[in-house]
Amino acid sequence: MKLSKLASDIAESPTLALNEEARQLRERGEAVIHLGIGEPKNKTPIAAILASAAKLTSGEVKYTPADGTPALKKAIIRYTEENYDRLVAPENVIATNGAKQSLFNIFYSILNPQDEVIVLAPYWVSYPEIIKMCYGKPVIVTPEDGTFTPRFEDIEKAITSYTRAIIVNSPNNPSGVVYPPELIEKIVALCERKGIYMVCDDIYHKLVFDRKVAVPAYRFTSRDIEDSHIIVVNGVAKVYGMTGFRVGWVVGPRELVRVMTNVTAQTTSGVSSVSQAAAEGALNGLQSVVESIRLQIENNRAVLLQEMKTFNGARLIAPDGTFYALPDLRAFNGNSVELSRFLLKKALVVTVPGKEFGMEGHIRLSISGTVKDVTEGIARIKWALDPTSPNEIYIGDKKMIRDWM
Ligand SMILES: Cc1ncc(COP(=O)(O)O)c(C=O)c1O
Repeated sequence: MKLSKLASDIAESPTLALNEEARQLRERGEAVIHLGIGEPKNKTPIAAILASAAKLTSGEVKYTPADGTPALKKAIIRYTEENYDRLVAPENVIATNGAKQSLFNIFYSILNPQDEVIVLAPYWVSYPEIIKMCYGKPVIVTPEDGTFTPRFEDIEKAITSYTRAIIVNSPNNPSGVVYPPELIEKIVALCERKGIYMVCDDIYHKLVFDRKVAVPAYRFTSRDIEDSHIIVVNGVAKVYGMTGFRVGWVVGPRELVRVMTNVTAQTTSGVSSVSQAAAEGALNGLQSVVESIRLQIENNRAVLLQEMKTFNGARLIAPDGTFYALPDLRAFNGNSVELSRFLLKKALVVTVPGKEFGMEGHIRLSISGTVKDVTEGIARIKWALDPTSPNEIYIGDKKMIRDWM
């Protein structure tokens, strides 16, 4: 069968294969623990349920404007003012089907074939694939071994005449690091100096711990939004735990939003009106829902750090935010794909290989589940890998003995 080379070269989602294997194991009654999923466990915030239910019961579920309903855009403008200290116009805002579509449409709208986008490792798996789908070329900048924060000099060195954008994701999926404000400040200045876009994927911006803050890039520019080169991506998926509603948005220069609106109009059309009502409800509703998600994850992170203390051979940089951690397990196996497979087979724990995020030798653990998932998951991983841990463990109701070392 003849298929597009571009499309055929797009990598499979790394979690899909593992999820499928985990599903089959679960179906067979095995006690699988999922530390691979990137979504909070909370129920949909009540304000979002009520707003979307009202939309449904009105029976008026029709096409929406391609850039979002005026009501949702108003809520996004308020959110931007409250969280970013920026007053933007409706023409600076577009709602999308999740932050994923925001990113796709941004790159589709700013890249010409062969243009380059600087991606900072470790990076979210979809960035390189999305850039490639838009005929661009991802240029990966890797931090010094043992850190997850890129060096500014390395970012600067990666710039060529083809560079169109740098994508910055802080708090970062998969490492959980929050980049220092000085680095953000330098990247803002660099982008302004070189006339390239700084795409800030802020999808986790409120999920930070120990009273840290992810300082918005806007803080470091005196320029107006129209010529600041900063593009902010956000959404309700992570901060409100509303992954299934598929609502994200972009705040950026009008001209970009205009082009993105045309792209959306010719592809998906506007986001479902029911989902937009839900997002509007969440943004205008009680914000304590965000804090309760954050606290639940902060608690899980404390449990994770406690459990990792007795994991001999594993090295972990404590996450500052998100619901991920990226331990370095090179002491056990430098091949993270093998490692993840091994952990699923022996310990029935789903993890994601660090290779997928540009960080070989590491595995990504999601701590968005229950405390029990975290404690038991880490205990099983220790049992499977660390010879100094007790060699017997219960997995479900089966007593297991480690007999491979
Ligand atoms: C860094 C990052 N950006 C964007 C997204 C996509 O968010 P959405 O579910 O709103 O498409 C994710 C989801 O995992 C993510 O981790």
